[in-house]
Amino acid sequence: MSTNTTDNQRKVTTRRLIEMKQRGEKIAMLTAYDYSMARLIDEAGMDVILVGDSASNVMAGNITTLPMTLDQMIYHAKSVVKGSQRALVVCDMPFGTYQGNSKEALASAVRIMKESHAEAVKMEGGSEIRESIERILCAGIPVMGHLGLTPQSINKFGTYAVRAKDEQEAEKLIADAHMLEEIGCFALVLEKIPAALAKRVADELTIPVIGIGAGGGVDGQVLVMHDMLGINKGFSPKFLRRYADLSTVINEAVSRYIDDVKTSDFPNAQEQY
Ligand code: KIV
Repeated sequence: MSTNTTDNQRKVTTRRLIEMKQRGEKIAMLTAYDYSMARLIDEAGMDVILVGDSASNVMAGNITTLPMTLDQMIYHAKSVVKGSQRALVVCDMPFGTYQGNSKEALASAVRIMKESHAEAVKMEGGSEIRESIERILCAGIPVMGHLGLTPQSINKFGTYAVRAKDEQEAEKLIADAHMLEEIGCFALVLEKIPAALAKRVADELTIPVIGIGAGGGVDGQVLVMHDMLGINKGFSPKFLRRYADLSTVINEAVSRYIDDVKTSDFPNAQEQY
């Protein structure tokens, strides 16, 4: 497959992601939460930047994603949008801002779009939140679905183990995936489910299916930036590939700086006015 430079520099849109699936071109998605990292990730050529509510874990140090507020997500998304030129910026709707009723869900999504200038929202769940998704779609806001392991429901699951291993849960996931496509979602994230099931869903849907811990048979992959860069070394599930060891790089750099300050090596004669 040939993609020319001009095409590579073109702004990524929801429509373009669907075209990528049609061409068999894989979609790369990564999380970001601030301006500087978004800029680096965008410049490297990322297709989609997700302002994930995983910010709760990796930015705020919480155990779950539940404490994240709408104001906090808008703050992160606003910073990421400023750092992104080419990538499509998708913002997670945080826990409690869309499950109650569809009117509240629409108001939350409108705030994200108006205040952060993100280009789409992501919502966890299937038939249970259908009405909320439909209302948001009716307002012209693109929605990315999210099925399988849905971390906002951790208190219901009681575990972060692989989902949809049994037939009943797998059948519900397949039905939910089709429903999300039918009502107009532009893409779907499948988290931590068996690879064969994820491939089946990706083969059956016309919208792109982006996996995390869902194998290679889907249309694209997403990872949490801190995990793949090795900033967050305490988290090492089987599906994670580490592309850098930034915790060691940062620790060594900071230790050298401390030593240089303590020994009066920094600043030297050239590093002052
Ligand atoms: O919040 C997040 O980072 C996510 C990804 C893991 C898909 O939802």
